[in-house]
Amino acid sequence: MNVILRAVAALGALAAVTSSTSAQDLPSEVTQEMVTKGNEIFHKTGLCYACHGQDAKGLVGPNLTDDAWLHSKGTYDDLVKQILSGVPKEQSKSGIPMPAKGGSAITDDDVKAVAAYVYSLSHH
Ligand code: HEC
Repeated sequence: MNVILRAVAALGALAAVTSSTSAQDLPSEVTQEMVTKGNEIFHKTGLCYACHGQDAKGLVGPNLTDDAWLHSKGTYDDLVKQILSGVPKEQSKSGIPMPAKGGSAITDDDVKAVAAYVYSLSHH
């Protein structure tokens, strides 16, 4: 009896975990706070808006709101690495380079937050 009750409780916990991840649709290391902070960084200190547009739909740099990625598969880890390194001229599809961190002075934690924001734009 005890064993069955414990098994039922475990199943319930598992179901709760599964449903909360799919409701948020964010990778496990990403929090809603990071997305909110990243939104601010994108439009202020990160300078991303200058090249990708206020709506992130592209200007000099590509659209970041769709699921077409030029340089990676667009996973959260891909985005963190991409933003840290930028896009060298030799790898740029348009011939226009992106400087590391967009040429801004944001911290590595800021990069993680802005990557979370970019991720959220294309994974609704
Ligand atoms: C000076 C202009 C400029 C700034 C500032 C800039 N980017 Fe970019 N970004 C680009 C260009 C240009 C590309 C690559 C275009 C190409 O390959 O043709 C790019 C590519 C990217 C990609 C890869 C897109 C893909 O399709 O694979 C991501 C992600 C990205 N930028 C995010 C950011 C974020 C976040 C910031 C702010 C921290 C930022 N960028 C700031 C110009 C910029």
